Amino acid sequence: MKHVIVSTPGKRYDIIVEKKSFAQFPLILQSLTAGPVVLITDANVHAIYGRQLAARLQSTGRQILVQIIPPGESSKTLQQCEQLYSALIENHVSRDAVIVALGGGVVGDLAGFIAATYMRGIRLIQIPTTLLAQVDSSVGGKVGVNHTLGKNLIGAFYHPDKVLIDPEVLQTLDEREWRAGLAEVVKYAFIQDTELLRLLENEMTTILQQRDADALEEIIARCCEIKADIVQQDEREEGVRAWLNFGHTIGHALEAATGFNYYCHGEAVGRGMMGALHLSTALTGLQADELQRALALIRMLNPPPVPKNISLEEIMARLLQDKKRRSSGQTWVLLNHLGAVLLQDNISDALTRMAVEQACQDLY
Ligand code: NAD
Ligand code: GLY
Repeated sequence: MKHVIVSTPGKRYDIIVEKKSFAQFPLILQSLTAGPVVLITDANVHAIYGRQLAARLQSTGRQILVQIIPPGESSKTLQQCEQLYSALIENHVSRDAVIVALGGGVVGDLAGFIAATYMRGIRLIQIPTTLLAQVDSSVGGKVGVNHTLGKNLIGAFYHPDKVLIDPEVLQTLDEREWRAGLAEVVKYAFIQDTELLRLLENEMTTILQQRDADALEEIIARCCEIKADIVQQDEREEGVRAWLNFGHTIGHALEAATGFNYYCHGEAVGRGMMGALHLSTALTGLQADELQRALALIRMLNPPPVPKNISLEEIMARLLQDKKRRSSGQTWVLLNHLGAVLLQDNISDALTRMAVEQACQDLY
């Protein structure tokens, strides 16, 4: 069992990383509150985990309202929020209730936003069930929904009261989501932790095949520690929190150019990291052997190729759109070395193009 504490000026909470902890949740909840529970989950996760959790909470006499959303990014909308607010109001959910977000990043971001805004904020517990959500989205307080004009444009910083991570729930995750989550794990190793990098290099084949809960407890807790440390230094992303966006500049452009329904987030980040690594070698001190080491690890995760009907120009256009949206310009997260980040502005269009080409061409 691992405990990670997140301590920000406004909130201190703990992340429990422990195999079989999901089964302990009703007991853990008892120590936190006797109040009513709103369980928000998606239809897939409800079928595997939500139904049994709701039944167990009900059997302890707990008042519980279950809200099931359709799976996928299309649920992260203000319309879905409106439906959830209505359900909460109609069911007289009061300020002493706690929202339990059971699911991947979509459920966590949406339910977190509901918790942040319903009656000006009620308590929130995150039980992330994808690897991406366990190592990234459930930690650090970014919650929100998409707007038709862009992803994650409506939101808040709102930390949970607790995060409960059980690596055993990852056994039911499909292969693509599993590999996509591992890309985010690899990202932490690249930006901060050469020891984790060596472990991943040595063990990736086994990790990919076995999803061993003991090994995952260590790896997930390490990623949460890195994220907690960064968030504690820079809660509002005014500085070092941007490091977490390594691979995301090109990754977001790939997701946007493919309509947000082709890539899993982590897959696009995997390709984005390939581009950012090449850019690092061109611009910073990242050595050719470090580049090859890093690329080899990403290749093991096999991020899908860019579809043939998506041109380089379309991806470049998305990058420029993103650049225009930011008054401060586009800051790239690059690596000086494996484990050491450098933020860089004003990268020429020619170099950007080279990075996008590399991200697209690799693994064809
Ligand atoms: P997701 O929530 O859509 O989950 C992926 C799929 O896996 C879904 O179909 C879901 O039903 C299914 N699933 C979840 N857990 C399962 C399990 N244990 N077994 C079987 N199936 C399971 O996707 P995601 O990758 O977890 O999250 C992506 C979202 O996270 C995006 O909206 C992204 O913007 C957001 N995100 C937020 C942050 C943040 O800091 N808030 C960080 C990164 C990503
Ligand atoms: N996922 C990036 C962040 O939380 O800042």
